[in-house]
Amino acid sequence: MIVYNRIQELKKHLNIARSQGKTIGFVPTMGALHAGHIALVQKSKAENDITVCSIFVNPTQFNDLSDLEKYPRTLENDSRLLEAVDCDLIFAPEVLEMYTEAELALKLKKVEDLAWTEGKTIDFGILDKVMEGAHRPGHFNGVAQVVSKLFRIVEPHKAYFGQKDFQQLAIIRSMTKQLGMPIEIIGCPIVRESDGLAMSSRNVRLTEKERALAPLIYKTLYAVQQNASKSSIVELKAFAENEIKKEASMSLEYFEISDANTLEPIHELKSQQTAVACIALKLGAVRLIDNVVIG
Ligand code: PAJ
Repeated sequence: MIVYNRIQELKKHLNIARSQGKTIGFVPTMGALHAGHIALVQKSKAENDITVCSIFVNPTQFNDLSDLEKYPRTLENDSRLLEAVDCDLIFAPEVLEMYTEAELALKLKKVEDLAWTEGKTIDFGILDKVMEGAHRPGHFNGVAQVVSKLFRIVEPHKAYFGQKDFQQLAIIRSMTKQLGMPIEIIGCPIVRESDGLAMSSRNVRLTEKERALAPLIYKTLYAVQQNASKSSIVELKAFAENEIKKEASMSLEYFEISDANTLEPIHELKSQQTAVACIALKLGAVRLIDNVVIG
């Protein structure tokens, strides 16, 4: 396994591999790796000749500065985990390798930098306006900005994303299509702890007490999934909101049931329709998201 910090060095390595006809799989991450990330790497390993995993805590997608500062950084442990599954290349750039000072200054001024579209008019429709988009202003612009930069550096054949961030996956699919990038986007199932809690780099920030309460999130989503054919959307939403409200240290940001393809909120589940129930809440000081697919 080789660790690259510089764009040009990684590109040189990948250009040689590409000229030898090798296929490249890519797993972008922000590090603090867990079994959810590793499952993406393993899938990429199985489907490509070379797997690149990037580790970069992207400042432009954080709308909360303290969240950025508190984001866990565990490069040494991450390298160990990636080595154990035989990942080929790690790309771990410094912030100024990825961004110019001018780009970072725009973020501080809360101005949306759209340079990543390279002059193309990109329209995400409602994809970046509902749920996470509504609660985290500028977040998806920062995600699209960094993933488009990473895609231009790595030029992978396939890129792997978790369904844990269901809306992010939809944004990346839309972005790749609109930019005309010849990259296949692969969505991968959510990896959970044995008590159901979706694995997340933020889970380590939960206190012991909060960690013990956290399984309620998936328990609620699972009940919604099981009752989806028997109850109305209004009933399912009321149920989920009530379950979370019962727990004083949880504060619900949203619970939404949407069409799984368009992310349009739905009022009734039609036969043949696939929906997704998405939740975001704060447990103490930690913001957690999760979802289940219905139908
Ligand atoms: P990060 O939160 O590190 O997640 C990296 C990838 O791992 C994402 O595709 C995410 O959906 C996936 N992932 C996280 N937890 C998972 C779980 N429990 N099961 C399955 N997959 C899981 O998402 C980001 O980083 C960033 O926004 C990024 C795309 C790297 C851009 O900065």
